[in-house]
Amino acid sequence: MSDGPGSNRADGSATAGASLLGATVVLGVSGGIAAYKAVELCRRLVDAGAHVVPVLTANATRFVGAATFSALASEPARLELFGDDSPIPHTELGRRADLVLVAPATARVIGAYAAGISSDLLVATLLATRAPVLVCPAMHSEMWEHAAVQENLATLRRRGVHVLEPESGRLAGGDLGAGRLPETGVILEQAARILAAARHTGGRARPLSGRHVLVTAGGTREPIDPVRFLSNRSSGKQGHALAEAAAELGADVTLVTTSGLPVASGVEVVEVETAAQMAEAVLERAGTAELVVMAAAVADYRPAEVATSKLRKADGPPEIRLVPTVDILAELGRRRHAGQVLVGFAAETGSPDERAKCKLEEKNVDLMVANDVEAEGVGFAHETNAVTIFHRGGGRTEVPLQSKKGVAEAVLHAAMALLSGTPPCKDGSAGQVLTAGSPGSEASAPHAAAGSDRE
Ligand code: CTP
Repeated sequence: MSDGPGSNRADGSATAGASLLGATVVLGVSGGIAAYKAVELCRRLVDAGAHVVPVLTANATRFVGAATFSALASEPARLELFGDDSPIPHTELGRRADLVLVAPATARVIGAYAAGISSDLLVATLLATRAPVLVCPAMHSEMWEHAAVQENLATLRRRGVHVLEPESGRLAGGDLGAGRLPETGVILEQAARILAAARHTGGRARPLSGRHVLVTAGGTREPIDPVRFLSNRSSGKQGHALAEAAAELGADVTLVTTSGLPVASGVEVVEVETAAQMAEAVLERAGTAELVVMAAAVADYRPAEVATSKLRKADGPPEIRLVPTVDILAELGRRRHAGQVLVGFAAETGSPDERAKCKLEEKNVDLMVANDVEAEGVGFAHETNAVTIFHRGGGRTEVPLQSKKGVAEAVLHAAMALLSGTPPCKDGSAGQVLTAGSPGSEASAPHAAAGSDRE
């Protein structure tokens, strides 16, 4: 799903190409001012080697003429459910599509799609296709924030539709706010990720499709003065591998990270530095997440005061008073909503069992992933990891030494079993030991690429 190590963080347009090559993309355009941006999107999809079939709603043609799309796309723009050569254009388009991409998607199209009302060729095609669908809403902030729109989008997400959230910025009429269609490069990157994932899974259902997964990564940095901070050895590799693996399994992934490592394409990134910033970013987003994986190494303490200018050696050894930070995972454990799965990580020295099990209970989480950071090939400086996943209720899964991507997949498989309501241990017996990702095991196929370290 990732377009390789060159993937960048925000606008990943540079890497979008490979999976678009040869793909049939039905480009749905509905009637908003951002329809003009769909012209550029159409051209760039064609440039990337996609076969593009534009489908315009009647209102879209009030903003941009069909002739413009016909001139740039691989086929003439389609407008009508009736009056076409084909008596069933929607099923024909739906079957041919490798991806249906709607940009911009208006509140009306989103509503009709969610309600299953095939009011025009675009919505009929959306209802008739089994291809993955990416919807890119764009509208005024008031409409975007309206409960009806948000509930319709939640319905679509639940059904496995990908939703690329709008950005904040200048809107029609000079207003400022959320609702702006993301940059073309961002849309292309997301489309490429979805197509790559569909190929990766060979058309099989992607088990996290439509699920929001929130992952944290890296060690927080707690400032002492403008040049110094308290931190730990976490690199963020294990967390980034988790985000990548979750995206490949079809999830809509948000990664809250302190690390500058590359990010898998399509993953929403929130960069933070301190425990307080991470807490704010996570708690703000956790409400919509069905799965939260706290792989970050969050500082337990921060300096009570941050010096506004550099501390000088000549002033003698400073006394730095520390105060506790928010325990984000424990707070998530208190706030968790029904059906939400929480996963924590515990980097320990020596046998991790007892401490990890205690943390699982204390923080009210479902899985605690523990490792002995002093063991061979495990921990901060390595591309590999080996962990024990402790399950609430007593089971545990041993994940032997392998790439951090392989470990990420094993952790996600354990979490998915909880999401789908399957008990982690088949017979539910306390203390059962399962093995994931070991030679001959099917639980997790170790990946060749990507490494990581926890944290
Ligand atoms: N964690 C957190 N917020 C903190 C500290 C930890 O969310 N302020 C989370 C980590 O992301 C991890 C889990 O809690 O998923 C366990 O972290 P760990 O550092 O192992 O445990 P602590 O509770 O900090 O205990 P100790 O440092 O004493 O081992």
